[in-house]
Order: sequence, then C-alpha cells, then structure tokens
Amino acid sequence: MAKVAVVTGSNKGIGFGVVRAMCKKYDGTVYLTSRDTGRGEAAVESLKKEGLTPAFHQLDIGDEASVKALRDYMKEKYGGIDILVNNAAIAFKQAATEPFGEQATVTLKTNYWDTKRACEILFPILKPGARVVNVSSSAGFLGNLDRAENQEKAQEKKKKLASDDLTVSELDALMKEFEETANAGTHGAHGWHNSTYSASKIGLSALSRIQQRELSKDDSRPDIVLNHIHPGYVDTDMTSHKGPLTIDRGAESTVFAALLPPNTDVRGAYIWHDCQIVDWINGPTPAMT
Ligand SMILES: NC(=O)c1ccc[n+]([C@@H]2O[C@H](COP(=O)([O-])OP(=O)(O)OC[C@H]3O[C@@H](n4cnc5c(N)ncnc54)[C@H](OP(=O)(O)O)[C@@H]3O)[C@@H](O)[C@H]2O)c1
Repeated sequence: MAKVAVVTGSNKGIGFGVVRAMCKKYDGTVYLTSRDTGRGEAAVESLKKEGLTPAFHQLDIGDEASVKALRDYMKEKYGGIDILVNNAAIAFKQAATEPFGEQATVTLKTNYWDTKRACEILFPILKPGARVVNVSSSAGFLGNLDRAENQEKAQEKKKKLASDDLTVSELDALMKEFEETANAGTHGAHGWHNSTYSASKIGLSALSRIQQRELSKDDSRPDIVLNHIHPGYVDTDMTSHKGPLTIDRGAESTVFAALLPPNTDVRGAYIWHDCQIVDWINGPTPAMT
C-alpha cells in the first residue's frame, strides 16, 4: 500500500508549513486537512502554485464523525496511516474577555480532549513503523507549574504527571480538576498556574509520554514512534504574528520527528524547535524562540 501522512489543522500556520516541507521531503502522499473545506482547498491550491501536490481531506477534530470518516478513508485507500501530525489547536488572546473558566473549558476541549479522542480513533490504523508528532509548546513544559501559587500542591502535581506509571484515566482526572477549579477560581490554590493554554499543553505532553509507552507494548505493530515538540515562537495568527520564526522554520522540529529513521531511540521525547531533545521533567527549558 502507498504511504501517507496526515497533518491536522493545516490550512494555515505551522501545519501549513509542515505540509509544504513534507511535500518536498516525504515519498508518500501528504494530506493537508482542514475543518473548513473552502479554507483547506484554497490552501492546497496555493501549494499547487508552488509546484507541490498535497492531497486534501476535511477534518474537524471536534467532530467525532469527521475523524471517523478520515479514519475509514485512510484505511480503505492506504491501509492505514504512516505519519500523523496532531497540530490543530487553539489559544485565547491575552486580551480575551471571556472568563478564565470558560477559556479553560474551550481550550482544553480542542487541545486536550479532542486531540486525545482523535488519537484514540486514529491510532488503531497506524501502520508498523508509523511516526506520530504531537505539537505541544514551550508552554507544555512541566516546569511551568513552578509558577503556581500553591507550590506544595504544584510539586505533588508535577510528581504525578512525571510518573512513569501515570495512566490516561489519572491524567484525565487531573485535566478535569484543572477545568473545574479554573471555573471555580481556585486553580491557583490547587497547584495550577494561571494559563489555560499551558495546562492544555502540559496535558498533551504528559499524554504523549503515556501514548509512546502504550504503543511500544504493541508487538503486532513494531517501531511506532511518537514524540511531542515545541515548534518555536512562530509568526502565525495564533501569536498575532509576533513570533519571529517563519512557518517553514516552525515546521522543522515536526518534520524531524515525522521522518525519524527506523528503530530510532528518539521516542516519547520532548523535541525543541532546533531539534534538540529537552528534559520535559527537569528542564531547564532552552530560550523560548
Ligand atoms: N505559533 C507559535 O508560536 C506556537 C508556539 C508553540 C506551539 N504552537 C502550536 O503549534 C500548532 C499550530 O499553531 P499555529 O500557530 O500554526 O496556529 P494557527 O495559525 O492558529 O493555526 C491553527 C490551525 O488549527 C486549526 N484548528 C483549530 N481547531 C481545529 C479543529 N477543531 N479541527 C481541525 N483544525 C482545527 C485551525 O483551523 P481554522 O483555520 O479553521 O481555525 C488552523 O488551521 C498548535 O498546536 C499550537 O498550539 C504554536
């Protein structure tokens, strides 16, 4: 069966940069996906003008039926997926006026719950040797919890999140606790710091470590590798174009992780935008950009 890569949320921004780079470097079909068909097809057309040939499929990770439709299509046409990039995410602007609790619920929905559900639906069709890249952030570094108001609780939380025995249901419970306490205005007292986006990405990074452990146990599909990355501070709509890096530069760590060679040791790792591996638990995090 022909090889295929799928990039979520790739009609613009870093995901679009990833599709552009993968079209140049990958010897399989690269799917640009978008929740909005019009925006997705326009993005494909603009890459075609550059002489590249991405394919298109609609995908809204917030819509279970849409994720299942993509899964069925990939299974039927390609026998599964070779490369999956979980890039789609949202972030409220600093100036957003929605209450913090509402921002927590909305941010966690896309960046943690919907991303996790997309993985649950798509992982069963990952082919042996598949590569998965979860696009996290410097905001997903565990050490960000050191900024929480209640340090005793924050350190307890860090210990749980860093544990090699952490289960998905324990992680879900922590994410629910963040959401509930954010809505009650007590998240600081529970050891969370004041960023819904950061909590969502800490959740995604913790999930990535569990996912690699689980995938490594599957003897029927050897060498499936999953890593989580920080793309750098990139010039996109999400950053109101304040990031200094171009989308092509922001795509580099994702492409590196997507094209890791057979039997690589880089598994469940936190990869920085310069493709260096960062210690997610102890840091220190390198410079932001
Ligand atoms: N930019 C940075 O400096 C930076 C830094 C660290 C991490 N990141 C991460 O990098 C990734 C890409 O960010 P970006 O800066 O490129 O953001 P962006 O320009 O805002 O693009 C986000 C993409 O995700 C899509 N999306 C959002 N919700 C979706 C859903 N439910 N289903 C499918 N697609 C959805 C958006 O689609 P629409 O066009 O339809 O809204 C858009 O294509 C994100 O995971 C972000 O958290 C970015």
